[in-house]
Amino acid sequence: MAELTTSPTAATGAANPATSSTTASPAPGFRSLTEESEVEALPLEGELPAWLAGSLIRTGPALWEAGEHPMRHWFDGFAMLHRFSFDQGSVSYASRFLETRAYRAARERGKLAYPEFATDPCRSLFQRVSSAFTPKLTDNPNVNLTRLGERFVAMTETPIPVEFDPETLAAAGVAWKVPGMLTTAHPHRDRASGGMLNYAVKLGPRSSYRFFLVRPEATEPEVIGSVGVREPAYMHSFGLTERWLVLAEFPFVVNPLKLALGGRPYIENYHWKPSLGTRFTLVDRATGEATGPFETDPFFCFHHVNAYEDGDEVVVDLCAYPDAGIVEDLYLDRLRAGKPITKPELRRFRVAPAAGTVAHERLVEEPLELPRINYSRASERRYRYVWGTGAGETGWIDRIVRADLERRETTVWSEDGCYPGEPVFVAAPDAEGEDEGVLLSVVLDGRTEGSFLLVLDAASLDELGRAQAPNRIPFGFHGQFARG
Ligand code: CO
Repeated sequence: MAELTTSPTAATGAANPATSSTTASPAPGFRSLTEESEVEALPLEGELPAWLAGSLIRTGPALWEAGEHPMRHWFDGFAMLHRFSFDQGSVSYASRFLETRAYRAARERGKLAYPEFATDPCRSLFQRVSSAFTPKLTDNPNVNLTRLGERFVAMTETPIPVEFDPETLAAAGVAWKVPGMLTTAHPHRDRASGGMLNYAVKLGPRSSYRFFLVRPEATEPEVIGSVGVREPAYMHSFGLTERWLVLAEFPFVVNPLKLALGGRPYIENYHWKPSLGTRFTLVDRATGEATGPFETDPFFCFHHVNAYEDGDEVVVDLCAYPDAGIVEDLYLDRLRAGKPITKPELRRFRVAPAAGTVAHERLVEEPLELPRINYSRASERRYRYVWGTGAGETGWIDRIVRADLERRETTVWSEDGCYPGEPVFVAAPDAEGEDEGVLLSVVLDGRTEGSFLLVLDAASLDELGRAQAPNRIPFGFHGQFARG
């Protein structure tokens, strides 16, 4: 049975007696899936709200082999899209591999043709040297997706966003140009234009971070501002307030020349240099002018949660790790062997540009990752609720967490042997409260080695229903809800 616990201190695992030696392992979530599915009505327990209409579309790695050659890291696998559509209380499901250049080439050759996050194709010395001058970039968009105007786009951290058809889930070409070689799969929505804000790293003798806007129908980006950098940091996301773009540069950095010539898998060119500290830089969205950097203790993170201005201070909330060891935790051999991952903490930073200071505090005791907020209402503003995944005694993501930042209190949903993914918040129509709506999460059930879509009340984490998927769904990363 599912467990619900509420606690201001939430001693991890202590309130969850369901965890025991009989708990089924999360390992099936790291096994490749080869079949694509289409089901009109999934078996459903419970009752979904009548207002819930539209589609949850998610991306994630589903295939970690190219021919007989295994990939090494969770982030490497070939992207599959999963779509759960809701209509009058019923749920349909479809899944399909994205037919990208990288995916097609690997199928045709029986081996990897483009380098992924931590796995390189086997190459001759000549191929290594020539690839330094004309780097081959993967277009395998297994990290996140976004909707820009009428376009649906799947993304990874290379400058090749892939448009797809939300009905057929078929890939439909490159969506827009990115002004750099590396970018994030976590753009922000620009409220004023309805466009998308992101940053990219321009690599060269003089490298820089470039912030850019893509308007709803555009394919050419507009560069807003630029910050020079000698050794770019690995940054998976960034923050946004009404005035500022917020860069948190962790000391996990790369020498651009070594990246080009190093001959090592992409992420293994990055090094942890704690003496650099972590540096916040604020870029004015209107003028492009940069303020900072403001240095604080070294830490690492994948995900910013939210940011806003509070008087003279800029508040930046994120999911922090003590160092970049989490990247190593996510190699598949470790995950499949059941080694526990480092637990992230929800941290609030207060950057005071005039005083030049940075202060921080932990917001709740419960670990929190894959954060989601009520974006249309709370993004860039003072807010109260964050939802995310948490990790307890199993050492893997084994719970859904709701954090009330005002009361500094968490509520947890967990069920023995179950491993949920990112909980996507969908607001109820005409909602009054910031947390009025549902959470949608794809859960791997280690007991049956199957998966189901879980629907929770976002305020209480009470279960409203679950729809059984026709197959096991490997652990993915991010998705978005498109209203019907
Ligand atoms: Co992410």
